[in-house]
Amino acid sequence: MAEALPNPDATPTAPSASASIESVLHEERRFEPPAAFASQARIGSIQAYRALVAEAEADPDAFWGAWARQELHWFTPFEKVLDWSDPPSARWFEGGTTNLAYNCLDRHLEGPRADKLALIWEGEPGDERRFTYRQLHAEVCKAANALRSLGIGKGDLVALYMPMVPEAAIAMLACARIGAPHSVVFGGFSAEALRDRLIDGDAKAVITADGGFRKDKAVALKPAVDAALAGGVCPTLKHVLVVRRTGEPTAMEAGRDLWWHDLVDSQSPECPAEPMASEDRLFVLYTSGSTGKPKGVVHTTAGYNLWAHLTFQWIFDIRDDDIHWCTADVGWITGHSYIVYGPLSNGATTVMYEGAPRPSKPGAFWEVIEKHRCTIFYTAPTAIRAFMKGGREVPDRSDLTSLRLLGTVGEPINPEAWMWYRDVIGGNRCPVVDTWWQTETGGVMISPLPGATATKPGSCTLPLPGIAADVVDLEGRSVGVDQGGYLAVRRPWPGMMRTVHGDHERFRKSYWEHIPPINGEYIYFAGDGARRDADGYFWVMGRVDDVINVSGHRLGTMEIESALVSHPAVAEAAVVGRPDELKGEAIVAFVSLEGGRSGDAALEAELRRHVGQEIGPIARPDLIRFSDVLPKTRSGKIMRRLLRSLAAGQEVSGDISTLEDRSVLDTLRV
Ligand code: WT7
Repeated sequence: MAEALPNPDATPTAPSASASIESVLHEERRFEPPAAFASQARIGSIQAYRALVAEAEADPDAFWGAWARQELHWFTPFEKVLDWSDPPSARWFEGGTTNLAYNCLDRHLEGPRADKLALIWEGEPGDERRFTYRQLHAEVCKAANALRSLGIGKGDLVALYMPMVPEAAIAMLACARIGAPHSVVFGGFSAEALRDRLIDGDAKAVITADGGFRKDKAVALKPAVDAALAGGVCPTLKHVLVVRRTGEPTAMEAGRDLWWHDLVDSQSPECPAEPMASEDRLFVLYTSGSTGKPKGVVHTTAGYNLWAHLTFQWIFDIRDDDIHWCTADVGWITGHSYIVYGPLSNGATTVMYEGAPRPSKPGAFWEVIEKHRCTIFYTAPTAIRAFMKGGREVPDRSDLTSLRLLGTVGEPINPEAWMWYRDVIGGNRCPVVDTWWQTETGGVMISPLPGATATKPGSCTLPLPGIAADVVDLEGRSVGVDQGGYLAVRRPWPGMMRTVHGDHERFRKSYWEHIPPINGEYIYFAGDGARRDADGYFWVMGRVDDVINVSGHRLGTMEIESALVSHPAVAEAAVVGRPDELKGEAIVAFVSLEGGRSGDAALEAELRRHVGQEIGPIARPDLIRFSDVLPKTRSGKIMRRLLRSLAAGQEVSGDISTLEDRSVLDTLRV
């Protein structure tokens, strides 16, 4: 396997994804917030934005404290806004107790919002379910009581491995209600990946479903849970709760497995929300880093709640009659923050869609918008690029006039896709917000405010008030205008991750000491390359570590390498990203085989299948290149930068003096 490099060997100015430096350097288009939009917006001018920035700057604690008191319900008020005396361990809103499910449900039941739609769910075969706040509250209470009846309580980790059904959101809220941290594992991950996450988190229960619908067919999920638990590898895990979704025959293990409807439906619809300390663990969500093992990003109660709430309110400029639709899966942070928690905490109506556009229904998204009269639409650049390719005829068949705001997230957006989105989907009427953030940040960090910030295609524009984002060198010095550097944050913020589950050292080293702290000043290292233009606008170029971004999904190259070398035929593997017009990046694997065996198409297919089984279909390499040896330096390190150039079909430039055997190059060209 490739040796772990102590430092990312990519340069910050090397864009790894589709936002090519050329196109963004020469981007001069600028769109002011539409006057009609700005006149009604919460933050309706750049002056209003700057006033908030100045207020946060002058006294961050007073700023965050005031928002936290105003926007969240507290069982007990907090005494201290931030304790940063032992960085990078942050303690926000110490002394206070609150509950995320209470903030998302109970507090909306007092007035007319009780009968407002909280959740509209659109199932893949065309079925639909709707929940008012009152109804959702009752469902969440029943699920919370069900979990309690299994002996699950405060601090017990519950894993979710779910399709996009309402029970996914209900289960998340039920966990939050009783103080059991959840760990949502994306339903597209394999049994092996699920097993690793169950074991790492010491999960006490799994909530899953018989299956879900994907691209016109029922796909089973429960068998993956059985496989993950085979051999008693997770002794802490006693219960599996199964939602019936597809109705396909499903094996149930007596004493361990229970049907959701058998256990939940008969519970009482009242369950008091557990007062949780601000820093009590709320959830763990695994994400890929630059080493082999995914890290469990830990978020805590009050800070995360405030950040999901406030960013949702600011960025989507939410109004009472909005129908908000975020197309993410609840298995990712975007689904946590902008399908479930941000919208519900604000009392908004959120749409959840089980399906996806597919050849039999290319206009699926547009039909959902038309049917539910969505006003806000939030999706990934990859999806937009795919729609562009399909031609405007498809969206043009639907009535999209209900839309008033568009958002993107997950990867750099190329200006062409941004312009198409604004024009074809937004009718040149809707502001477009390109939102930069990460699993680790809990919510959006850099984004236009649609009533205040002029936008430029391809730029996520300016940091939110209170967010001290910067572009720096590895010593933490700000770089100049239009210079490439590392995206960093100079001050803690409420939604920041608190630790890596079970590995605080890794949290410290990978995020807060990558740039060495000077005079006690800790700087958060995001792992992205960026530059700032003369207006202070941020242009994010992509990852600078060994993480690749495939269709907005983050994958560690080392995880894929580990999966490859776990196959008996493979001796060594090196995985890199290659720019891809649709996916942002495609996965290219360079593989050498055991015992001088030679690779062929059958083995390539076999290895792709193997990676799919080890991680999940999204991690399958697009291309596998076999070679007797991989290019290494004289000290034995795989030369990834060189492989990246080869994968991209670029000429390998002069810096190969350390390459041990130059003849390798010819055998590797893609
Ligand atoms: C990485 C985080 C948080 C949302 C979903 C992804 C990339 C995210 C943007 C954007 C350019 C972006 C970064 C970041 N990214 N948003 N607007 N422009 N790049 O969460 O899986 O934690 O991935 O996604 O590279 O580091 P994630």
